[in-house]
Amino acid sequence: MTTVVAPAAPPPDPDNIQGNLIGFNKDHQRLVFLRFSDAANGKAFLAELEPQLARATDVLAFNAAFKAVTSHGAKPGTIEAAWTNIVLTLAGLQLLAATGLDTMPAEFKDGMRVRAPQVGDVDDSDPIRWLPPFDSAQGPIHAMIILAADDSDDLNAIYADVQALAQKHGTVETAPAQDGNTRLGANAGHEHFGFKDGISQPGIQGLTQSSKAGQDEIAAGEFIIGYPDQDGHISGQGADAPAPQPGQPGYPTPTPTPTPGLPSWTKDGSFVVYRRLRQNVGGFQDFLQAEASKHGLNPDQLGARVVGRWKSGAPLEHTSDEAAGVDPAAQDPSIADPSLVTGAKINNFDYVPGDADGHLVPRAAHIRKTNPRSEDPPGKQESNRRRILRRGAPYGPDFVPNEQPYPQAGPPPPDQDRGLLFICYQASIVRGFEFIQETWANKPNFPSGDDGGDGRDPIISQDDAHPDFRLSQGVHLTTQRWVTTTGGDYFFSPSIAAIRQLSGS
Ligand code: HEM
Repeated sequence: MTTVVAPAAPPPDPDNIQGNLIGFNKDHQRLVFLRFSDAANGKAFLAELEPQLARATDVLAFNAAFKAVTSHGAKPGTIEAAWTNIVLTLAGLQLLAATGLDTMPAEFKDGMRVRAPQVGDVDDSDPIRWLPPFDSAQGPIHAMIILAADDSDDLNAIYADVQALAQKHGTVETAPAQDGNTRLGANAGHEHFGFKDGISQPGIQGLTQSSKAGQDEIAAGEFIIGYPDQDGHISGQGADAPAPQPGQPGYPTPTPTPTPGLPSWTKDGSFVVYRRLRQNVGGFQDFLQAEASKHGLNPDQLGARVVGRWKSGAPLEHTSDEAAGVDPAAQDPSIADPSLVTGAKINNFDYVPGDADGHLVPRAAHIRKTNPRSEDPPGKQESNRRRILRRGAPYGPDFVPNEQPYPQAGPPPPDQDRGLLFICYQASIVRGFEFIQETWANKPNFPSGDDGGDGRDPIISQDDAHPDFRLSQGVHLTTQRWVTTTGGDYFFSPSIAAIRQLSGS
C-alpha cells in the first residue's frame, strides 16, 4: 500500500476535485442513495458516471460567469447549470476493492451510526429511530449521489440519467431520494427557523478568492487530502489523534499523534458528513415567545441571541461597518442600514476584545459555539483548525402559523417534516464536524465553565441532558431539542482520478 508523499504540495487541482466541495449552491438539490449489486456492476456504473461529474473547475467557472452577468444587471436565472457528484461509504469503497482501507480514519470506518453516542445522537436522535436508508434494515448504502440544479426540470433530467445508469448496472435505489430546496420568496436563503444561512464560509487557499471582509482564507489541507493544513502538515499524512477536551491537560493545543498516512488515491478527496436534521419550528417559536418577555426581550431579540445573528443575517455583534451609536442588540441594524447584510460587511466581526464575556452574543449562541473566531479559549488558530465547508439545503414544507403542535412522541406527520440536509466537507471528520458537535456544541462548559457554564448550543446540541443556555450574567434558560437527527452517514468524496481508478477505467 502506498501513502501520500508530498513534502511541498502545489495548489489543489480543481480539475481533479469534485465540484460540491466549492459549493453547488443551487435552488434544487436531490440526494440519491445507492447500493451496487456487485463489484463489477459498481465499477461499470462509476465508469459511465465519471464524465458527467461536475469538477471544481466547472463550479468556479460558473460562479465567475454568474458574478459577471449579474453585476451587469442580468437577473439570476440568466445562466443556469445542473450538476452531479458522488460520495462513497466505507462499504462502497470495500465493494469497489479500494486499496489501503485499513488506514482510513476510525470514525469513517465506524460510520455515523456507530459514532452516535459520541456526537450525542441519543434519545429522539438515536439511530434506532432513523429513516431509510439509514435505518440499517438493508445494511449500509454504498454511495450517495448529489444532484443540484437551478431549474427543477433540469434536476429531474439529470436524475433520470442517474436512474437509467443505475438500472443498466443493477444498482438499486435503497430509499426514496431526498429533495432539498431553497425556500421561496422572502425566505430564500433562510433555514426553517427563519434565519439567513450559508453566510460564514471559509475561503480555500489556492482555490477560491474572496474580497469579503471577515472571511478567513483557510489552508486547503483543512478540507482536501494531500495539501498543507493550517499547521503546515500535509492532510492525510497521519491523522490527528482526538484532541484534548476542555479541562484536560493540553487543551486547547491539539497534540497530533502520527498515524499511518491515507492511501495515495485519497489525494484531492474530502470526507463528507451528511445529517438529515429535522427542525421543530413550532416548538422553537413557542420557546422564544414564552421565554423572551421573562427577560425583557421580544422573540426576535431572543432568537438573535440564540443564533448570534438576526433573521436577516445581520450580526448581533458590533461591526466596524456599523454607523456610530447603533445598538445591534436592540434591533436588527440592517433595518436602518441594509448595506450591513451585503457580502462585503455581513461577516466582518469578532467576539473579542469587545464582547469576551458574551454580553452581546452569548458564548453558547450557535454561530459562536461553532466558530468561536478569536475568542480564547480556544483562540483563533485553534478555531481555524476546526473549519468546515457547509453545503446543505433546507428540506420539507414551510411552517404554517397555527399548525398542529409537534407531537410529544414519535415523528411528525409528513407535512410537518421539515429541516436541514446538513452536508459538510473536511479533511478529517474527527477534527471538523465531530469536534464541533461533541466538544463545542454539546459541552456546557465550553468555552467557559464559569457562572454555571456557558451552556449548550441551543440549535444543534444533541444529548439533551441538562439543556442549559447562559443568556447573560447569571441568567440561564432551559432549552429543548428542536433539531433531531433522523439519518445520515460519513462518506468520502473521491477525486476524479480516484473514481477512474476505482472504476477500473
Ligand atoms: C438544523 C440545524 C442547523 C441550523 C438551523 C443551523 C443554522 C445556522 C445559521 C442560521 C447560521 C448563521 C449563518 C451563517 O453564518 O452561515 C449557521 C452558521 C453555522 N453553522 Fe449551523 N445550523 C444547523 C446545523 C449545524 C451543524 C450540525 C453544524 C456543525 C456541527 C453547524 C455549523 C455551523 C457553522 C460552522 C456556522 C458558521 C459560524 C461562523 O463561522 O460564524 N450548523 N447555522
